[in-house]
Amino acid sequence: MTPTTHLGARAPDPPPHRAAIGATPSNTRVVLAHRPSGRDIADCFRIERMPLRLPQNGQLLLKTELVSIDICSASRMQEHAPDSDILALGQVMPCSTVSRVVASRHAGFKAGDLVLAHTGWQSHQVVDATSIRRKLYPGVAPVSTALGIYGMYGFIAWSAVREVCQPRPGETMVVAAASGPIGATAGQLAQMRGARIVAVTSSEEKCRHVRETYGFSVALDRHADDFADRLRLACPDGVDVFLESVHGHCIDTVMPLLNDGARMPLCGMMEGELWPEPATDRLPAFLDAILMRRLVVRSFTHRDIARLHPQFLVDPGFISDMGALLRSERLRWHEEYVDGLELAPLALSRLVRGDNLGKLIVRVG
Ligand SMILES: NC(=O)c1ccc[n+]([C@@H]2O[C@H](COP(=O)([O-])OP(=O)(O)OC[C@H]3O[C@@H](n4cnc5c(N)ncnc54)[C@H](OP(=O)(O)O)[C@@H]3O)[C@@H](O)[C@H]2O)c1
Repeated sequence: MTPTTHLGARAPDPPPHRAAIGATPSNTRVVLAHRPSGRDIADCFRIERMPLRLPQNGQLLLKTELVSIDICSASRMQEHAPDSDILALGQVMPCSTVSRVVASRHAGFKAGDLVLAHTGWQSHQVVDATSIRRKLYPGVAPVSTALGIYGMYGFIAWSAVREVCQPRPGETMVVAAASGPIGATAGQLAQMRGARIVAVTSSEEKCRHVRETYGFSVALDRHADDFADRLRLACPDGVDVFLESVHGHCIDTVMPLLNDGARMPLCGMMEGELWPEPATDRLPAFLDAILMRRLVVRSFTHRDIARLHPQFLVDPGFISDMGALLRSERLRWHEEYVDGLELAPLALSRLVRGDNLGKLIVRVG
């Protein structure tokens, strides 16, 4: 695996479409072969090659160029995932993709167009044109950003900051998983509104990265023995906003520091979600904090967002705000690339170990 990184600048856009469809290509897909028994998930998949059918009226034949590696894919593999999320054995792992139209039977698309699709870990797919989320234009933003900062991750961060964080100048905001696309984006957006960011991540290297790349004033390793002491020192006036997504030890440490009226957008709970820990009953302490310190807690999941804004990936406010920020170069992002669809399972297992830096993307050959 040879990841390369692209920092706040143009990622290499896929090469222009050259050949029109000749012989119908076959599809290479990565499917779930069995459920993980422990934390090893990379060997739970198998690769299949299947013939492709030609698109019918209203359909497109897509070729996948970039695949988003998402942490929620790991929870979908588990038997304890919510019913609506659980991935059946033999199914392709779903996820957003940047795909190229190879053949079109719909007037709105032509061969060569780049689109944001949801075709998952496979090289090709025939889809209804109505399922396409957005056409992508490299002149507007690097197309890879549609999988991160200018896509679902950026939208979650942008909505959480506007709707719940509402940071005021001088307030302290703690950001968990601060090197990931949600934390890094939300932290920068809050910083632009004058908040002081205390970033929490999982290694010294990631701490340095978020300080140097995003300008976060403090970054702490949540695995350090003295994490609790350092966090207290870093937040002498308490915590006004806590972007939570890690759970476990992290939430235990931040909770006592939350100020009266603190806002807490909840984007995920990595530790509890992937490998449920032995019962630790946080509920009484949490309810007490909500009651006595008037916490405002609100979840930001892709499900809520899809319900609230069915067309969220084309939300005009998001597209124009974030587009302007990206073009102004006031907002930075970091992507890490892995080459080859067959390495998607390994890439996912790296993400689950926190062994990634920024948005992890597989470039399909
Ligand atoms: N609400 C939604 O629909 C939605 C969509 C996407 C992601 N999310 C959630 O948002 C959070 C951040 O995701 P992201 O994609 O922006 O970041 P990401 O960096 O792409 O991936 C997740 C990060 O979580 C941390 N992590 C990994 N394994 C962990 C574990 N076992 N225990 C605790 N932390 C672990 C690591 O960050 P560190 O090394 O910095 O700790 C890892 O880099 C996650 O909780 C994710 O589930 C939610």
